[in-house]
Amino acid sequence: MTTVAIIYHSGYGHTAVLADKVAEGVRDAGQTPVLLKIESAAQDFGPLIEEATKADAIVFGAPTYMGDVSGVFKVFADATAGVFFTGAWKDKLAAGFTNSHSFAGDKGHALESLTILAAQHGMNWVNLGLAPPGVTAAERGPDTLNRVGSFLGVAGQSDNVSPELSPPAGDRETARLLGERVAKAAVRWTVGAHAAAELGKAA
Ligand SMILES: Cc1cc2nc3c(=O)[nH]c(=O)nc-3n(C[C@H](O)[C@H](O)[C@H](O)COP(=O)(O)O)c2cc1C
Repeated sequence: MTTVAIIYHSGYGHTAVLADKVAEGVRDAGQTPVLLKIESAAQDFGPLIEEATKADAIVFGAPTYMGDVSGVFKVFADATAGVFFTGAWKDKLAAGFTNSHSFAGDKGHALESLTILAAQHGMNWVNLGLAPPGVTAAERGPDTLNRVGSFLGVAGQSDNVSPELSPPAGDRETARLLGERVAKAAVRWTVGAHAAAELGKAA
């Protein structure tokens, strides 16, 4: 069974909604999600990093705070420096999602931070793979997939209401589709590596 770890922070619950949908997408692809929530900057990240290291792919998620990943997520990212030195995440697949209040809100910068984190670990980034909405801006609504038009990963938009109400259905489905995409890519990646080993080829 292929496993996909989803490591995320969510201060107020909106990004957590997207994390759950990524996990749902992984399950829909017939694979196993491992949801790992970062609770605080002061926690021991060891167990979380250990779980992620066992996974075939890691999806990173953080709300956009002040134009970048949340400070709590950044503390976690810094704590992965030990993994950097062992190379334990090298060649795993990676992907990411963020969420913020504004339609732009500098979410792109937060997604870039996630891609750089993955690149520093030598991971291979799986992008969103969804075209921007093929409708006019006026026609975009809560059910529109990839509503704000992101390529690197999921860029959710949440109003300042309960996470039960926002992010909207389109953003949730976009996150589910990312989970499915990463899980399918991870299956190809792991099965391909086994097949290559059997053929005596370097993988
Ligand atoms: C400290 C802080 C900084 C924020 N900075 C931004 C920002 O740069 N851009 C934006 O669009 N929203 C910003 N927001 C709004 C959050 O991104 C938004 O409320 C989001 O839904 C929170 O996600 P969470 O519930 O998972 O914590 C900020 C919120 C906080 C608390």
